[in-house]
Amino acid sequence: MSKFVISVMEGDGIGPEIVKEGIKVLEEVAKKFNHTFEYKYVDVGGCSIDKFGVPLTQETIDTILSTDALFFGSVGGPKWENLPHHLKPEAGLLGIRKALGAFANLRPAKVFNELVDASTLKREVIEGIDLIVVRELTGGIYFGEPRGFSQDRKKAFNTMVYTDEEVRRIAKLAFEIARQRRKKLTSVDKANVLEVSQFWRDIVIDVSKDYPDVELNHMYVDNAAMQLVRNPKQFDVIVTGNIFGDILSDEASMLTGSIGMLASASVGGKVGLFEPIHGSAPDIAGLGIANPIAQIESLAMLLKYGLKLDKEAKCVEDAVSLVLKMGYRTPDIATNSDKKVNTAQMGDLIAKAI
Ligand code: NAI
Ligand code: MG
Repeated sequence: MSKFVISVMEGDGIGPEIVKEGIKVLEEVAKKFNHTFEYKYVDVGGCSIDKFGVPLTQETIDTILSTDALFFGSVGGPKWENLPHHLKPEAGLLGIRKALGAFANLRPAKVFNELVDASTLKREVIEGIDLIVVRELTGGIYFGEPRGFSQDRKKAFNTMVYTDEEVRRIAKLAFEIARQRRKKLTSVDKANVLEVSQFWRDIVIDVSKDYPDVELNHMYVDNAAMQLVRNPKQFDVIVTGNIFGDILSDEASMLTGSIGMLASASVGGKVGLFEPIHGSAPDIAGLGIANPIAQIESLAMLLKYGLKLDKEAKCVEDAVSLVLKMGYRTPDIATNSDKKVNTAQMGDLIAKAI
């Protein structure tokens, strides 16, 4: 029997409603696999502003850093929209990501075959997609110096910078993930134009020597953008820099067409952060109809990448698949023939399926 301490951040909007379902499922995992999970509830974002006047406190950061993983709901909403930037809920999210030192963002795009019709793409293109984008998160053009405007404001500039260490650690992580999956890694760059990309490619090739069992290929980012919609099934793991990853991960997540289903993880720091890709959905908050599956899939990622509990993660994923196969749907993914359920009922069904 193992014991883990999880920080839980329910947050704003639908956050508390769906995180609750995630914990419900986690408690079933605890029973089935004989683990104990202790929860430390923290506030980030609007809920923190309401309690403490700021979107993130040092105490919250310290609490999170003392735990094994952070299970994160969502932040933000109209109530806090007019605050200055550094006091907005979203500043809390950026602050916590920074404090955790996570250098990698993982965004899986997996198609549930029961939901292929939610996509705007053809069924035969979509069926069977199972890929993950590994995006470098703390380097590249978003952080490179120098940056700014010329004095006369006739010019503006940003700089794409990567160090050997930054590329090496994200490449290693991506190879490790590929090794646990279908052993295929695509490194995306713009090496035909950018020196930084040639540098990136050389280092990825160097790292690949430690992973002879993983098949590596390289793709220019413009081609990768095309291939993602033309033939997304060719991909297993995609690794790329910050700006290319920002764009490609959003593109990849829309292949499946259902925002309420998709999870993400920010890892590489001391504590990993696991959250849905969607926001706080203020338009449906409090109605009890939000889809908890993205949050529950985030739980699966927490188990897999945060606690290294592969069997438990797989069990959660299988439980979600089973409930979808049985025809149960929250309103956002429902068609007429489905059995419609609300947030709590969906959570109950998945917990039972564990
Ligand atoms: P959103 O993702 O919250 O909502 C977009 C649309 O998708 C809405 O119609 C919503 O009802 C629907 N939706 C989202 N999640 C759903 C779910 N689980 N089940 C059913 N339907 C779902 O994006 P939006 O409206 O642009 O942003 C709302 C607030 O969330 C803003 O304050 C924004 O800054 C914040 N936000 C926070 C994020 C985070 O906490 N990581 C990420 C994105 C936005
Ligand atoms: Mg983005």
